[in-house]
Amino acid sequence: MKFGHFDDKEREYVIETPRTPLPWINYLGNRDFFTLISNTAGGYAFYRDARLRRITRYRYNNNPMDQEGFRLYVREDMGPGKAPLIWNPSWQPVKTELDSYSCRHGMGYSVFTGSKDGITVSQTMFVPENENALIYHVKLKNDGKTPRNIQLFSFVEFCLWDANDDATNFQRNYSTGEVEIHGSAIYHKTEYRERRNHYSIFWCNREVDGFDTDMDIFNGPYGSAAAPDAVIEGKCRNSVAHGWRPCGAHQMDISLKPGEEYTVVFGLGYIENPEDEKWENLDAVNRTRAEQMMIRYNTDAKVDAAFAELKDTWDRLLRKFNVSSSEPRMDRMVNIWNQYQCMVTFNMSRSASYFESGMGRGMGFRDSCQDLLGFVHMIPGRARARILDIAATQFPDGSSYHQYQPLTKRGNMAVGSGFNDDPLWLIAGTDAYIRETGDFSILDEMVPFDNNEDLAQPLMEHLRRSFNYTVTHLGPHGLPLIGRADWNDCLNLNCFSSQPGESFQTTGPSEGPVAESVFIAGMFVKYGRAYEAICRIQGLKLEADEAEKHIAEMEKAVLTHGWDGEWFLRAYDAFSRPIGSHKNEEAQIFIEPQGMCVMAGIGKDTGEAAKSMKSVHERLETKYGVVLNNPPFRHYHLELGEISSYPPGVKENAGIFCHNNPWITMAETVLGHADEAWDLYQKICPAYIEDISEIHRTEPYVYSQMIAGKDSPRFGEAKNSWLTGTAAWTFLSISQGILGIVPDYDGLRVTPCLPRKMKGYKASRLFRGTTYDITVERAGKDEEKGLWVDGEKQKDYLIPVSKKEEASVLVRI
Ligand code: BGC
Ligand code: NOJ
Repeated sequence: MKFGHFDDKEREYVIETPRTPLPWINYLGNRDFFTLISNTAGGYAFYRDARLRRITRYRYNNNPMDQEGFRLYVREDMGPGKAPLIWNPSWQPVKTELDSYSCRHGMGYSVFTGSKDGITVSQTMFVPENENALIYHVKLKNDGKTPRNIQLFSFVEFCLWDANDDATNFQRNYSTGEVEIHGSAIYHKTEYRERRNHYSIFWCNREVDGFDTDMDIFNGPYGSAAAPDAVIEGKCRNSVAHGWRPCGAHQMDISLKPGEEYTVVFGLGYIENPEDEKWENLDAVNRTRAEQMMIRYNTDAKVDAAFAELKDTWDRLLRKFNVSSSEPRMDRMVNIWNQYQCMVTFNMSRSASYFESGMGRGMGFRDSCQDLLGFVHMIPGRARARILDIAATQFPDGSSYHQYQPLTKRGNMAVGSGFNDDPLWLIAGTDAYIRETGDFSILDEMVPFDNNEDLAQPLMEHLRRSFNYTVTHLGPHGLPLIGRADWNDCLNLNCFSSQPGESFQTTGPSEGPVAESVFIAGMFVKYGRAYEAICRIQGLKLEADEAEKHIAEMEKAVLTHGWDGEWFLRAYDAFSRPIGSHKNEEAQIFIEPQGMCVMAGIGKDTGEAAKSMKSVHERLETKYGVVLNNPPFRHYHLELGEISSYPPGVKENAGIFCHNNPWITMAETVLGHADEAWDLYQKICPAYIEDISEIHRTEPYVYSQMIAGKDSPRFGEAKNSWLTGTAAWTFLSISQGILGIVPDYDGLRVTPCLPRKMKGYKASRLFRGTTYDITVERAGKDEEKGLWVDGEKQKDYLIPVSKKEEASVLVRI
């Protein structure tokens, strides 16, 4: 069953009923100011850091769900003795049945249109480019034949900045709230008198007939978002918040003749003032910057222009990689939604979604490095800056903080380090950047270790220490020590946690001398080779030779001690017992080493790689994707940790953990298994499973972290949409694996691995300044295979770097 449809021309998903199985959200903002917004205009806003600079409050895990957001209420008197008609154009929270409803989630904007009894309201929400504000462009129209007197109320609930403190420290926070009101602008200035230099504003470009800034007065002490006292009575109280829960609400009394339209612009902004310009006087904040911001959006024309600019930006971003094939659903994902999600994961890492509170984690080291892989072609400049930020959180010994806070860019001490795959992901991210841009100068950038400038070294030295970290942390079988965990945060081999509530991530020693990971071994071979190649290009022959030797040894160790007979082993535990082996009772086979080792080419020539893929099909593949392990854990294993804490079939315990499904897709393409690769690509691709949205439940336009596996009673149900490495990896698996367009150091390689049913495709790809118009087709009986640029045949399916603005490429396979 579907709840909406794709509008590819507008690059939108159009939700046709507010009653989606879960809130289906969108992300507005692309740099510093962000808003999460659901299909009923629920959500919240923050500046840079969802924990430390939260602008509006959100109550996660609530019932009814998704009550906080960017609310508009429409009210009309129904005559004496009758209850007024009250509704929201986006349906929630009042939930009055609407005559029509739609929510169009587009690239960086969402448009809600609701109508009731002849009044139509549309609410266009977006964060303009380079602006720290959420703009709502609101239009009301009387579609009927009689004049109407209606009222419009806006409402947002401010958060007292640190979302975590805001949700826990009520004895203080109920006393600190402060606001100012100037005309139609409400200034939320809690803590501005002391250590903050920022406030937020909620304004509109019309004169108002009333306002409120105290939520308990607007809603009423026993009122609610669904039935605020002020709206029911049709009268704001002009309340001024002193402590408690500051909010922003406007009231407008509007008369509309038949056919008449009324527009108003609301804005929710974030303003910072320099220390010495904080005040106008003792009681009044300096409003200069806020007023300038309001002027930038005080007319419909200015708002329309800002909206057009946003559309234009996305148009430019998405034009860089475009495909047209016989598979419209694939085209739509590649051209629009998959790239869009890559941008969102790049911005958010795993910090703020409807499943990540924004209070727990900052940016993940490995997560952000992987997000780069899918994003780097869009804005390489931002990818470059991100690599340098991430590298700055590395420790001098090559290990790294597992997470860092986006606001401070400092490593997060609470989680610390010890995830032994982390360092190698830095090589992966940097390598992808260099292949995309050819910019080797990034390797010369001086980057601190542990954010300490005194310890700064060129980025190349960071990569060297990343590589060497694995070389110097090998276990008894010559395989990499796992530390706290590798990519699978839940395989905690040195943890041994028996107390409820202990964090699996931080309990136990950060390293044991024995537990080893075959997955990291695969990574070391794959990204070690990238490191070796970079060394060679840099003229570091001795170092490259040395690296090559280590990689060969690792490959041997994997084939000797990491091979179980039919598939790759997963690991050795702290007692050197194999994990992911036919000898185990539970979890005899895991997906991760199959994907990573085959992507690295291990066993490709000797048959193990093909056997590994065969075992994946036989033991792990289901109709909704490949599960992480099989059989699932049914007992808690002290020596394995969190993985065995989940009920069978979900999350890392035999769920379809989408992130690593594209590893299998890629691995299949390494072996030339085109149909198998395609089959799996489709299985987890949201656009291909739109029809089962009632089972899948999360948004049909983005990937989720997890789909319940065959051992779960909720088989096929997804969770944790949006912030997942699945975005970047599926983009790689389709663009580089299946379509075969691969950036390389010396040019762009085109080596497609197309399923039998696909005859070819056309693509447009911007690469180092040249837009390539690529046609891929299957060679006819007597036709020559190969790659031609502007009619000239090239070697090895490689498009050499060119100075032309445009070139046309023919690939015959
Ligand atoms: C989740 C993992 C996550 C880890 C760290 C676990 O509970 O299952 O997916 O990586 O927490 O936050
Ligand atoms: C989610 C985490 O963000 C990611 O870093 C990890 O690899 C997966 N969970 C698997 O545990």
